[in-house]
Amino acid sequence: MTGGGRGGRVAVLPPRVADQIAAGEVVERPASVVKELVENALDAGARAVRVEIEDGGKSLIRVSDDGDGMSRADAELALSRHATSKIREAADLIGVGTFGFRGEALPAIASVSRFELETSADGASGTRLRLVGGRREAAEDAVRTRGTTVTVRALFFNTPARRKFLRAQTTETRAVVEALTVLALTRPDVAFTLTSDERALIEVQPAARSIDRVHALWGRGLAETLLPVAHREGPLEVHGFAQRPAQAKPAGRKGYVFVRGRPIRDPFILRAAEAGYRSTIAPGDRPSLILFLDLPGDAVDVNVHPAKLEVRFRDKFFVEKVVEEAVRRALGPLEAAAPLGLGAGGSGLGAWNVAGGSAVPLEMFAGDPRATSPEPRAPPLLQVFDTYIVFQTDSGVAIVDQHSAHERVLYERVMRQLSGDGAPAQRLLLPLTLEFTAPELEVIEAHRELLRRVGYEVEPFSGRTVVVHTVPNPHPRFDAGRCLQELVADLAGGRFDGGAGGAGGAGGALASRLERFGATFACRAAIKAGQRLEPEEMRELMARLLTATLPAHDVHGRPTIVQLPKDELERRFGRS
Ligand SMILES: Nc1ncnc2c1ncn2[C@@H]1O[C@H](COP(=O)(O)OP(=O)(O)OP(=O)(O)O)[C@@H](O)[C@H]1O
Ligand SMILES: [Mg+2]
Repeated sequence: MTGGGRGGRVAVLPPRVADQIAAGEVVERPASVVKELVENALDAGARAVRVEIEDGGKSLIRVSDDGDGMSRADAELALSRHATSKIREAADLIGVGTFGFRGEALPAIASVSRFELETSADGASGTRLRLVGGRREAAEDAVRTRGTTVTVRALFFNTPARRKFLRAQTTETRAVVEALTVLALTRPDVAFTLTSDERALIEVQPAARSIDRVHALWGRGLAETLLPVAHREGPLEVHGFAQRPAQAKPAGRKGYVFVRGRPIRDPFILRAAEAGYRSTIAPGDRPSLILFLDLPGDAVDVNVHPAKLEVRFRDKFFVEKVVEEAVRRALGPLEAAAPLGLGAGGSGLGAWNVAGGSAVPLEMFAGDPRATSPEPRAPPLLQVFDTYIVFQTDSGVAIVDQHSAHERVLYERVMRQLSGDGAPAQRLLLPLTLEFTAPELEVIEAHRELLRRVGYEVEPFSGRTVVVHTVPNPHPRFDAGRCLQELVADLAGGRFDGGAGGAGGAGGALASRLERFGATFACRAAIKAGQRLEPEEMRELMARLLTATLPAHDVHGRPTIVQLPKDELERRFGRS
């Protein structure tokens, strides 16, 4: 045995063995090497980072940057364990602003590969160090521009057990793409490229805003479905993007969380964000989320995971609560409704400026429009196909789905009634008698109290018959008997019980039994498509919709309102 102190049976491991063991925690696959090297480049102030891989990174990984570089002495030191320029004492860990702080990554990577580091701090003199399996093979002068290039060949060549765990080239390549994507999201101001066997997989230029980076990484398609998130509560600021509910799908979402600029994996935070979608997405749908959390350094411990992929919050409950609220607020304004999306320039967001100074003042829809003078008259409302309400706004033409809109309005009202005293009911002079199947009768029995609170007082009669003494009266065209039958059939059929996520699971949009009941009732009680409405009814519906908490979506995640921006009209008619 070489090196290391030695007692009887206890011996200190030689540094190279210790490095290999540490590598087991830090370096799992090519993607983890890329992550560590790119983080080092960003910590060194790089403006451009280039990554090349061959064979999924199994035969070659090269990361080049134009950062600060290192002197020969620093470069040599950087390859020994616990050597770092980023902290000096344990107290510096609090609020550490760099990705790295352990001084482990370079020696760990070097110990399990054929490793080469080329660096220059001044753009004139430079150093090249070569190591094989952690053992120094060469140290020589090199000429290069300012910055650092690290080349890692034959990863795990000397730890065959680990090499066996590497997956197919495509799988490893995908993991590398993901690792670089995450880091590219943290720094839109830095250029990144990734080439895999000389094919360019990522190529993003410096950008001013995160949304531009999202756009560059994933294209317009995703970027246009995202709503901005911006919310602060006490010490915690949450910003980023949440996908419009109508575009959430059960699979393939992007979910990223960053804490103090550090990418972390935290299913609980994503779950809290999904909770913010409640009652706007279908059960099982997973919206894309990109969330940046900023809070003081002493509110979070970043040194809890070997690859730094997790952090520990001092008050996790608070963080989750604020994240949920941040997403909820992002979905609140009518701007959150789906735009018509008629090709380029058709996004037209911002036209619904309801939160800060409504483009269409609410009062205009309520009561007699002349009474609101000297305000401008309410825009005339036009019903088309007996299904949509169309009207003009400051910036375009708005189209409201009467059923979806009414469903949203009723849902919010019914949820208040279900948790309060209940809705005013209408006592029938001649009680209704309705027939149900055996499973439906069970549903009625199980929901008697909830039915009473929305206005249905029901009583078993004989056999399969039920007597209805009181009914709700949500609107003049309401068909109480039919609504009850549909409601009970939906509940018996589990229509709102949740899909992939399962009731109460992550993203289960209508998590509680109460919410499922409320949503089902709202859906069945709402005015239907194909129903002609009087102008006064349309006005009332619009006034109620615009004062709802989440006016932009119905309980299935469909938009209640879409709009055709004026710009788009002008473009189509060649006026602009
Ligand atoms: N690309 C680079 N440009 C300039 N300096 C670098 C670069 N990569 C590494 N260094 C220097 O080498 C040191 C060691 O890097 P290493 O990644 O091993 O540790 P670290 O980044 O300090 O901590 P961690 O192990 O948490 O990543 C760094 O502290 C830094 O000073
Ligand atoms: Mg590092």
